[in-house]
Amino acid sequence: MILLDGKKTSNEIKDEIALEVDSLINSGGKKPHLAAILVGNNGASETYVNAKVKACNKVGFDSTLVRLEDSVSEDKLIDEIKKINNNNLIDGLIVQLPLPNHINEKKIINTIDVLKDVDGFHPINIGNMTLNLPSFIPATPAGIIELLDRYKIDTEGKNCVVIGRSHIVGLPVSILMARNNNPGNATVTLVHSRSKNIKDVCLKADILIVALGKANFVNSSMVKAGCCIIDVGITRIPSDITKSGWKLVGDVDFNDVKDKVSYITPVPGGVGPMTIAMLLKNTLLAAKSRN
Ligand code: GUN
Repeated sequence: MILLDGKKTSNEIKDEIALEVDSLINSGGKKPHLAAILVGNNGASETYVNAKVKACNKVGFDSTLVRLEDSVSEDKLIDEIKKINNNNLIDGLIVQLPLPNHINEKKIINTIDVLKDVDGFHPINIGNMTLNLPSFIPATPAGIIELLDRYKIDTEGKNCVVIGRSHIVGLPVSILMARNNNPGNATVTLVHSRSKNIKDVCLKADILIVALGKANFVNSSMVKAGCCIIDVGITRIPSDITKSGWKLVGDVDFNDVKDKVSYITPVPGGVGPMTIAMLLKNTLLAAKSRN
């Protein structure tokens, strides 16, 4: 079994980005600048956004973090987005999800300037991605594709099963795996909460991408020997062997499947760090195309 090391790979990507930032600046350009809007104080969102800001500093980007109260009105949030859309010094903008229930997420995503939408969530970016036209690709799916590419995992003609149809991961990664690209060109099955015989479908997968957010959902009885597993889940569960009293686990029961598979992403240290690296890559792309 080979571990798909997202931490190491993401560090390589960040080093490559830092070099590109140096050459941008040496040729008279400005530092890429990412803005993030964080609404409320959801602990996980706070952790993710802080990690994104830290990664910006590491590669030499400027960053702006806009914090808004949980009770902020939709209009005020839209105003903040418009200010950033109109700010020529800012190249990329993300609004961390989920948003409080009183805010319409679709309306918010639609307000982000398509050319600054480095999360790739705007319907125009999703449409262009689907048609294999230039676009920002959502960071987690892009990170999965990048890992498959860097580890030279053959996807052409393979059976790829994706579990979960979220707009952030499952749906876009299923499109990317089916596109006429390398990696891509796979025969894709998208499994979701209304699917029947999930186990039988999973047993046919050469590549299994699991993104449903249920700790240890996939076990060895659901995977074909020699398959490649990409585990997107990350859930905190109680543990009596760690000092903190909890540990992070994926959607796949790692210990149960590890001797049966050919490749697998660890949790943590697999897909998570790749997401941040790809967000930085999108921001660099946004900055270069605006320059
Ligand atoms: N919430 C979970 N994943 C993401 C992401 O990739 N981007 C944003 N903006 N919010 C998220």
